[in-house]
Amino acid sequence: MNVVFCGATKGIGRAVARHMAQRGDRFALLGRDVDDLKRSGSDLEAMGGSVASTIRCDLMDLASIAPALDEAWAALEKVDAVVVTAGLFDLHETLESDSALRDRVLTVDFTNTVHLCELAGPRLLAGGGGTLAVVSSVAGDRPRKTIYLYGAAKAGLGHYLEGLDLKYRGNGLRVVNVKPGFIKTGMTANAKVPPFATTPEAIAPAVVRAIDRGTSVVYVPFVWRLVMLAVRSLPKFMMRKLNF
Ligand SMILES: NC(=O)c1ccc[n+]([C@@H]2O[C@H](COP(=O)([O-])OP(=O)(O)OC[C@H]3O[C@@H](n4cnc5c(N)ncnc54)[C@H](OP(=O)(O)O)[C@@H]3O)[C@@H](O)[C@H]2O)c1
Repeated sequence: MNVVFCGATKGIGRAVARHMAQRGDRFALLGRDVDDLKRSGSDLEAMGGSVASTIRCDLMDLASIAPALDEAWAALEKVDAVVVTAGLFDLHETLESDSALRDRVLTVDFTNTVHLCELAGPRLLAGGGGTLAVVSSVAGDRPRKTIYLYGAAKAGLGHYLEGLDLKYRGNGLRVVNVKPGFIKTGMTANAKVPPFATTPEAIAPAVVRAIDRGTSVVYVPFVWRLVMLAVRSLPKFMMRKLNF
């Protein structure tokens, strides 16, 4: 597959890209630091993949997104999939007290990710169709006291992705909304580890399978589908009492 990948430098994105590289996928790597992207590119090539280009794309810098996609398309010529694993998180208390950081999280995780998707979708459709896979979160499934700011951005993103899929799947744009549970990465290093926590490497095969199949919504690992089913069914008075 020819893949435009935003967020392959770390965590979930790194594991997913490495899994794709093992079968020989070809990448245009997008991210905010070109030296980091080059290091990731060498790693992916050592795993069996190839890297056509490494391109600066900062989800905090709206103006960087369209030129990055243009450059990626030019480098790969034919694009089969766009994968977005880039994202920002911080503890809820920090987001409540730091308004600048809160704005950055909302901008990166919602506004500018939607902007990227709005630019990528038509480009995929113009090339005959393809897959747009984006990581949201189980945090978007139901408001919870301890995570509703980040969760609001991910809920908005998930809502958008599922709408985009409804509108354009028939035209050949397959939108994949990836909802991870708690994954041990740099992003969650300061968070309390809940049950069912796992590693990026453990979920990477399921994410790649969902991209290949064009699954519209995928929970990784699968157990989080059941966990969130239970959480969504809890009455509000319990949600007010619970601290999770
Ligand atoms: N870990 C979890 O438990 C969990 C659960 C649910 C959902 N998620 C979501 O999964 C995705 C990946 O998370 P992760 O745990 O793998 O986090 P991570 O290890 O911190 O990796 C985050 C990635 O996002 C990139 N990024 C951050 N800000 C960016 C920006 N402004 N422009 C471009 N790229 C940017 C980082 O690039 P740099 O190398 O430049 O920093 C890095 O590649 C995120 O969307 C996150 O919200 C994570």
